[in-house]
Amino acid sequence: MIAIACDHGGYELKEEIKKYLDEKEIKYKDFGCNSTDRTDYPLYAEPAVKAVQSKECDKAILICGTGFGMSIVANKFKGIRCASCWNEEVAKLLKAHNNANVIALPGRFINVSQAVTILRAWLGTEFMAGRHTDRLEMIKEIENENMK
Ligand code: RB5
Repeated sequence: MIAIACDHGGYELKEEIKKYLDEKEIKYKDFGCNSTDRTDYPLYAEPAVKAVQSKECDKAILICGTGFGMSIVANKFKGIRCASCWNEEVAKLLKAHNNANVIALPGRFINVSQAVTILRAWLGTEFMAGRHTDRLEMIKEIENENMK
């Protein structure tokens, strides 16, 4: 199950991405928002990311204007690794090197076909492990020191 959430800057892209997920029969839970009316991205990032933390969802897709606000909020939560992706290559690396369980997308800077390419890359890439596991362990230590 994939959590999906957006603010007004990502609403239109979220709706298109849902069509893609439906086509592929990938299950998702939509945490809003539900229109292009101006709103605040932390309101939607938080419940989506908490669904990943609680394992209700195994990953999340967050969309705002730049993907930055969403990823900043997401990374405030222990065990969440998220970044904004703008092309296929960085999306592959986000999974292969960082084992990101959340991806953010810049709704104002990519079109639907770019978004689908990015998501296909992220969803279809395996974590490379090896030296990257050591780095994720270092991140865990930092989380344990700095987060409750
Ligand atoms: C909203 O105007 C915009 O700031 C938001 O969608 C996002 O880009 C923030 O990082």
